[in-house]
Amino acid sequence: MKKRNNIITVAIDSPAAAGAGTQAKLIAKEYNLLYLDTGKIYRFIGKLFLENKNKFEYKFINKKIKKLKLDKLNDKSLLSDKVASSASIIAKDFKIRKMIKKFQLNCAYNPPKKFSGSVLDGRDITSVIMKNSKIKFYITANIKVRAMRRYKEYKNLKKKITYNEVLKSIKNRDYLDRNRKISPLKKTEDSILINTSKLSKKACFKKIKAIIDRKILINGNI
Ligand code: C5P
Repeated sequence: MKKRNNIITVAIDSPAAAGAGTQAKLIAKEYNLLYLDTGKIYRFIGKLFLENKNKFEYKFINKKIKKLKLDKLNDKSLLSDKVASSASIIAKDFKIRKMIKKFQLNCAYNPPKKFSGSVLDGRDITSVIMKNSKIKFYITANIKVRAMRRYKEYKNLKKKITYNEVLKSIKNRDYLDRNRKISPLKKTEDSILINTSKLSKKACFKKIKAIIDRKILINGNI
């Protein structure tokens, strides 16, 4: 795989609805980075899995990933709770993770020239996909805060779901994501912990920006 030299790479992992996406977007804007929400790729496949009556068709999925364009990941249909739960199920599959890895590595290390680097968020970004990045964060928040934030997002999207259903679904995904054998969600030793429970988006970003600025000063890019 082709790798660009001298780029800024930021790796983020987090459990569901911890605010990682919001912070990743702010980071991308501030440092002119390509942003990849890797969860959307799992959701994309999770949706195919649902449409295919919960059966794996590796060849078909591989073909879809090879043709996948970033703007496809903005599809609103990927935002439902059903699709998120399905994503957590297919995410346990080794072959699927392997197929997606190449796509993610390409975004991480060979972003289009107009960007100064990349920022990726997901569950195995700091531990597997961007293991060598010098800028790593583990963003988390209290489970009830996360459930409430996601519940409000669903309400804004006019989705019919109760707070308790969201809470249960997030708990279930946390369990699956943390306890699977392959690439489980965990905080790596070299990731900086950011707890967003009591922080506003702005306060949280201020903290993150100070850390990134210092890291760039010490390490240069990458
Ligand atoms: O981030 P998001 O909640 O959209 O991710 C949906 C699901 O995709 C997660 O619950 C997880 O099971 C899976 N995922 C993963 N590895 C990633 C990103 C997401 O296993 N890097």
